[in-house]
Amino acid sequence: MAAGLKLRVVATLLFFLIYVDLFSFSVSSTTPPYKYFSTKTLYEWAHPAPKPVEDELYYLKGVKGKTCRAKYVSALNRHGARNPSLKEVTGISDLHRRLVAAMGPNTNRELRSWVNRFPNNNDQALTPLGETEQRGLGQRTGTKLRSLFAGKDNTDSGLKFLVTSHNRTKDSAVAFYEGLSSIVYGGEHNGSGVNAEVNNQLLRFYDDCDRYVTSVKDNKTAPKEYDDFLSSNRVLRIKEKIERKLNISSEVLTSDDVQRVNTFCGYDVAFFGWSPWCSLLDRCDMKIMEYGEDLEHYYETSYGHEINWQQSCQLVSAIFAALDNNTVDGDTLDK
Ligand SMILES: *[C@@H]1O[C@H](CO)[C@@H](O)[C@H](O)[C@H]1NC(C)=O
Ligand SMILES: *[C@@H]1O[C@H](CO)[C@@H](O)[C@H](O)[C@H]1NC(C)=O
Ligand SMILES: *[C@@H]1O[C@H](CO)[C@@H](O)[C@H](O)[C@H]1NC(C)=O
Ligand SMILES: *[C@@H]1O[C@H](CO)[C@@H](O)[C@H](O)[C@H]1NC(C)=O
Ligand SMILES: *[C@@H]1O[C@H](CO)[C@@H](O)[C@H](O)[C@H]1NC(C)=O
Repeated sequence: MAAGLKLRVVATLLFFLIYVDLFSFSVSSTTPPYKYFSTKTLYEWAHPAPKPVEDELYYLKGVKGKTCRAKYVSALNRHGARNPSLKEVTGISDLHRRLVAAMGPNTNRELRSWVNRFPNNNDQALTPLGETEQRGLGQRTGTKLRSLFAGKDNTDSGLKFLVTSHNRTKDSAVAFYEGLSSIVYGGEHNGSGVNAEVNNQLLRFYDDCDRYVTSVKDNKTAPKEYDDFLSSNRVLRIKEKIERKLNISSEVLTSDDVQRVNTFCGYDVAFFGWSPWCSLLDRCDMKIMEYGEDLEHYYETSYGHEINWQQSCQLVSAIFAALDNNTVDGDTLDK
């Protein structure tokens, strides 16, 4: 490291981690034949975790010919792999019953004997797979920023988590903390020492924004593009292919069911390593169904409606205000 660092490390290092309560799920040893599950694709399937380099985020070299050293870090993370919602669990069981009643006794026996192993009493709770994933994220973050924590212990490092009132975010923070502390403080940490504060106002702003709730979330016509997609010929052709494969009449399935089949192919493989639902779709069908789910999220939570992104300003401002608070003039770059 070059001599003459101008950086002072501030007395209280704040490592500010925030968990947003959106949804997704992640990391298993098995990879599915395909991985087109939109926001429900395991992180590990989409991006196999690279091996982190020690302090790669702590020292930043070659910034206008200078070297920077991290002094404050703020991160916005999503929770790890969660269970399907109660609505999803009962929806797939209902679809399975309808299919079994309509299928001939020798058609797709693996699908016929499929058993729904997803719990219907812990709505969207973090799963062991999600904990493993968050622990890994914590370890990699700890490695990349190890020197930021050097010589500090858990209580004086200023490591602070903001979470929502949903248990999966606190549980994600605890697993992340366990992974991070095993690297930066050494030894075993069980999460009892985690400094986590619930802040729904900042992190679940979308629950409190009346204009968003009435004009988008509870508005039946707001996802028009997704509804058009579901009734498009592309989706109807996939539905017909499934009907031919299972030798069932066109009254049994809906377009929503086709989406359900793709989603549970992903859930099943992620948590149990294999799924007969995947046999109903080929690669091309999955890509089309993933496009549909992306479309739905685009209009419900992304740039499809202005209010979707406008309402996040308060959170972004809070992150910048905290950054400003931790910057000292003339203290940012090494000569
Ligand atoms: C959330 O976690 C708390 C503490 O572990 C527990 O008492 C509560 O039942 C959980 N809530 C849900 C909805 O699972
Ligand atoms: C977690 O660790 C603390 C101290 O390191 C200990 O007092 C506590 O009993 C542990 N809790 C669990 C659930 O293991
Ligand atoms: C519902 O969404 C449609 C389509 O975006 C929009 O035209 C309509 O104004 C919205 N309704 C409300 C109450 O905002
Ligand atoms: C398909 O179903 C029809 C009646 O539901 C039946 O007559 C026919 O034998 C079935 N075909 C196959 C290949 O199982
Ligand atoms: C900025 O620092 C002051 C003094 O430590 C503190 O009271 C305030 O809450 C901080 N503001 C932010 C946005 O972190």
